[in-house]
This record gives sequence, C-alpha cells and structure tokens, in this order.
Amino acid sequence: MWCSQTLVVLLAAGAAVAQEAAQAPEFICPENEITGKFADPYWCDRYWDCFKGEATPVDCDDGTAFDPRRITQANPCDYIYKVNCTGREALGDPLGTGVCERMNGVYAHEDPNVCDKYYTCENNKPTLLACAPGLHFNPVNRLCDWPTAAKRGACDARTSLDGFTCDDKEYFTPSGQKIAHPTFPHPEDCTKFYVCKGGRVPALSGCDEGLVYNTQTSNCDVIENVPECDPNYTDYVYEDYPADAADPAANV
Ligand SMILES: *[C@@H]1O[C@H](CO)[C@@H](O)[C@H](O)[C@H]1NC(C)=O
Ligand SMILES: *[C@@H]1O[C@H](CO)[C@@H](O)[C@H](O)[C@H]1NC(C)=O
Repeated sequence: MWCSQTLVVLLAAGAAVAQEAAQAPEFICPENEITGKFADPYWCDRYWDCFKGEATPVDCDDGTAFDPRRITQANPCDYIYKVNCTGREALGDPLGTGVCERMNGVYAHEDPNVCDKYYTCENNKPTLLACAPGLHFNPVNRLCDWPTAAKRGACDARTSLDGFTCDDKEYFTPSGQKIAHPTFPHPEDCTKFYVCKGGRVPALSGCDEGLVYNTQTSNCDVIENVPECDPNYTDYVYEDYPADAADPAANV
C-alpha cells in the first residue's frame, strides 16, 4: 500500500515536471551572449531568439526542427531528420494530411510497392518526384539510393515467372561490359528465353523465326550452331513478345 501510494506521488510529480518543461514559458538568454538563437532545452522544433537579453520563442514549421548549425541563417530550422535532436527530443504533433505526415518534409510513396517515387511536402502540399532509373527511395536518409541500400522489402521481393526467378548475380559480355538485361535459356523450348529486366524482373521472350537461343553466346542463333536443339525438329512455334521484353541483341 505504502509503495503504490509513493509511486502515484512520484508519477504525479514526474508528470508535473514534464508539463512545466513542455510549457517552458521562459528562457534565460546566456549572459555572455544576449543576442542570438538558442535551442529550447526540451522541444527540438522550438528555439529562442534572444535580442539584447530578451528571449522570444519561435516554433519551427511543422516537419522542421532547430538546427544549431544554422543559427546564422534567417530560418535556422531544417527537416527534422537532418537535425540532431539528442537531449531535446520533444516535437509538436504532426499537422500534415494525406501523404504529408508533417506539413514539410520528404516522404515515401503511399504504396509500399512503389519504391522509385516519393513526395516532397511544402506547407502540406505534396509534389510527386521520381528517382533516377534503377534507384529506390531510401526512407532512412530520404534520398534516392541503390536498391540494396534502400532496403525496400516490398520492392526487393523477387518475382518469379513460370518458376523462373532472376538471381542476384551480375552478368558481363565477353568484352567485360555489364549486361543490363541478362537472358537465360527456357528449359523446354529452344525458341524462347527468359530475360531479367534490369537484372531483376523476369519476362519471357523469344527468338526471331528460324533462330533458337544459344546458351553459349546468350543470343539467338541459327539452329546448326546450337547442338542442344534438335536440328531435325522444324515445328518450332514462334510467338510475338512485347518489345520491352528485350532483344538479347540489345545487350551491348
Ligand atoms: C548529437 O548531439 C549530442 C548531444 O549534443 C552529441 O553527443 C552527439 O554526438 C550528436 N550526434 C551526432 C551524430 O552529431
Ligand atoms: C537428325 O536426322 C539425321 C538424319 O535422319 C540423323 O542422322 C541425326 O541423328 C538426327 N539428329 C538428331 C539430333 O536427332
């Protein structure tokens, strides 16, 4: 009984202290620096503007926080994730709506399967932007980054096509150039092959009529050059594939 009462009193005292700090009605400008901008000891998104010893509180725009490295700038606030808030972690409630969690900042696309697009929010107005081809938005540093660094689970999941999955390897031409869209033989049909678009996304493609896929050259070739394809078999069925399923000849 005694214990729980003490605990209640201590909790109440703690809450009172936190509330007092939260309201922090005043700030004493340092005696040796009566003019300047100073971090609030509690709120990261508030600072104190001291002019001749008189302190005025200034709240940063939602999504930004006081960065002591910017005290010489007219607006010393920067995006929260760029500011070191250690020891003054409190932040005002988010005021943004929709994709803008806070009214200002950089945010991932709302669809977790869309990894190459992101938003910048300015005063709660989002602008959709796209990363350069091959890059993913990294929600930690809020920049476009290599997919391996951005670690976007949903987009990293390998898709498979008829049981074929692109591997993690890089492929090179005999002259040593990286192959952007490497191709792989189809297990049953010499006229078809798989292509890994961007090295990651599998698609089915096929050779032009009369040609078969040569696993030695990773290219379409005449049947005589491809011993594993029966040269006596003439009933190959050639189909049309979407142009973006990539022509192995484009792998230069
Ligand atoms: C952040 O600020 C704290 C307290 O001032 C300091 O100890 C720490 O080294 C800083 N961290 C970085 C990454 O600058
Ligand atoms: C193709 O046909 C020729 C002549 O009938 C035969 O000698 C050869 O073994 C056949 N090749 C294959 C791979 O079946």
